[in-house]
Formats: sequence, structure tokens, C-alpha cells
Amino acid sequence: MKALVLAGGSGTRLRPITHTSAKQLVPVANKPVLFFGLEAIAECGIQDVGIIVGETAAEIMAAVGDGSAHGLRVTYIQQEQPLGLAHAVLIARDFLGDDDFVMYLGDNFIVGGIGGQVADFTASRPAAQILLTHVPNPCDFGVAELDEAGRVIALEEKPAKPKSDFALVGVYLFSAAVHEAVRAVQPSWRGELEITDAIQWLIDQGQDVRSTVIDGYWKDTGNVTDMLEVNRSVLETVEPVVLGEVDTDSELVGRVSVGEGARISGSRIVGPVMIGDGTEVTGSYVGPSTSIGDDCVIRDSEIEFSIVLPHSSILGVRRIEASLIGRRVEVTPCLRVPATHRLVLGDHSKVQISS
Ligand code: DAU
Repeated sequence: MKALVLAGGSGTRLRPITHTSAKQLVPVANKPVLFFGLEAIAECGIQDVGIIVGETAAEIMAAVGDGSAHGLRVTYIQQEQPLGLAHAVLIARDFLGDDDFVMYLGDNFIVGGIGGQVADFTASRPAAQILLTHVPNPCDFGVAELDEAGRVIALEEKPAKPKSDFALVGVYLFSAAVHEAVRAVQPSWRGELEITDAIQWLIDQGQDVRSTVIDGYWKDTGNVTDMLEVNRSVLETVEPVVLGEVDTDSELVGRVSVGEGARISGSRIVGPVMIGDGTEVTGSYVGPSTSIGDDCVIRDSEIEFSIVLPHSSILGVRRIEASLIGRRVEVTPCLRVPATHRLVLGDHSKVQISS
């Protein structure tokens, strides 16, 4: 079995944090969301992975390399334009050959991995197997309609009037039957070759299409609350470790991971918290469910339930909470008025706030 990971796409549907970088590299607990997918694939014993790359190819390649760090052999497949998920399968034909494969959307996060689904598929080998989950906003997804027996009878991409709240999760298992299906479909109203249409084609041909319903799914929809929540849940599994320096005036409570070369002085850190490599935390409080990326500076500040991406600095600010702060951001005070702040800042932002 092989894997096809989609890490292409254009920059048009992005929220501020990813204006300047690939959305598949947005970190959860200081690790790109794409890496969780690659690890889930490796855990299933799959080694051969094709990665679809687009405009952000250089960034993805720099992060993933040849895949050996994840126990994988990676082949990059360049997609000239984001013409759809079925188009990605079309251009990966040579790589995939006639093998069964799992298609994994690089911006999806599945709590608990995909081992169970892959084992089910391998045991019964239907033409396709999809994963579904209940969502409050089905209009933003591919939506499946099931009959009383739970069989998939119809699929629709981003429907205005969804027939159910079963969203397609971005993990699909396919046999080689899908290649004929992706050749058969026409571009949709949004100009893309939709994988939902290809799976519908398989259903219409009387082929065996199965579904499983899962919990614990997260998709980057630009929703900061969701992102903070998934970060919180992953941080709860992080092993406490101190690879950097912590001075005697500092206190670490609970699950705290301090990266290599990080320096913590005169600070209180209440886990679960991750402090990235080379980051300095001085005279500060870092509260639960916070990830601070590599090479940041947190000085005379308070922050909790937040994500800070690499190379950012927060100086003299009390208190930041429920915030997502991009790369190379500087947060500094302007007026001495106490307040709390809620921030969603794009990469390279510079903000002055009262503190
Ligand atoms: O996340 C689940 C949803 O993913 C499903 O419910 C939908 O049925 C499915 O169409 C897809 O919807 P999105 O519109 O949210 O997909 P998005 O454009 O965000 O692309 C998903 C990933 O695939 C993302 O990592 C970018 C990559 N991609 C996308 C396109 C369109 C490519 O590599 N090439 C492409 O041509």
C-alpha cells in the first residue's frame, strides 16, 4: 500500500497566519500539522509516500526532505495549479501504479491516527472507503448522504443545502478503481476536479464504497478557536522534558517541555506548555495550553492558552490569552493601562498595545 499526501493548493483561501507560508506547516504543539499525518501513515507500516506540492513546494520540501526522518520514502509530485483533489490523483498515476493507497489531505488532523481504517480497508478491499464525522457546518465540506443501513448513497461538495451533517474527512482509501473514476469526472462549478464526484462515479457504477464514522477530527478552517483547542489536546500528551536551561528562580509545574538551547529565568511555567528551541523566557508567566515556537523572546510578560510561532517576541505585555501569533511578530506595550488582549496576527505583524 502507498500513500498520497496533498500539500499543494494556492494561497487564495488562506487566513492571515498563512499568507506567507504553507498551511500544511501551521504548527500544533510546535510541530507542523503535516508531520502528524506523515507519522500516522508511517504507523500503518506504509513507506512509499507521494507528496503533491504546488506554489509552496520549496517550503514543504525543506521541511520534509526525503522523508527518512519519518521512516518514509518520499516522492514529490509537482502540481502546476490546484485543479482539485481528483486532479492530484490523476497526476500521481505513475507513482501510484495499480497499488491500493491512502490519500491524506495535508491540512487535516485525525486524533488517534488511521491504523484502524487502513486495517479495515485491507481486510475487505472495497473500491473506496471514506471517513465521515459529524460537523456543525457541513456547507464547508464534502457531505455524504447515507441510507438506513449506513451505506453511502450520494456525495456533494460544499452543498448550499446539506442533506446530512456527515462531512468527509480528508483521508480516503482507494483501490486502483479510482483511476478510471478521476478520468471520468468533469470540473465542478468551482473549476476543480472533485474527489467527491469521482467517488460518486464509483457509487453510480455499482462499485463498493464504504464509510466509517470517526470522532476527534480537526480541519484547519481558519478558525482560531479550533486551532487553540487542538493545540491544547495535543499538548496534554507531550512528555515533560528539559533540554535547555532553567534557573533556580524559575518554577515549572506539570507537563512542560523546554527545547534545546532555550533559557528560562525568573519565570513561572504552568503546563501543559511547550517552549521551542533557542527561546528565551525571562520574568514571565506562561500558562496552560501554550506553545511557544523556536527562537522566541518572552520577557516581562504573561501568556496562556495561546500559540506563538517561531522568531516572535512579546515584551512587557500582561496578559495575552486565547491568541494565535505568527512568525517574526513583535508585541510591545505603548501605554501603561492594564488590560487583557485577544490577538490574531498574521506573519510579520508588528503591533503596539496598551499593557
Ligand atoms: O478537509 C476535508 C475536506 O477537504 C472535504 O470535506 C472536502 O470534500 C474536500 O474537497 C476538501 O475540501 P477543501 O476545499 O477544504 O480542500 P482544500 O482546498 O483545503 O485542499 C485540501 C488539501 O489538499 C490542502 O492541503 C491543499 C491540498 N490541495 C488542494 C487542491 C484543491 C492540493 O494539493 N491540490 C489541489 O488541487
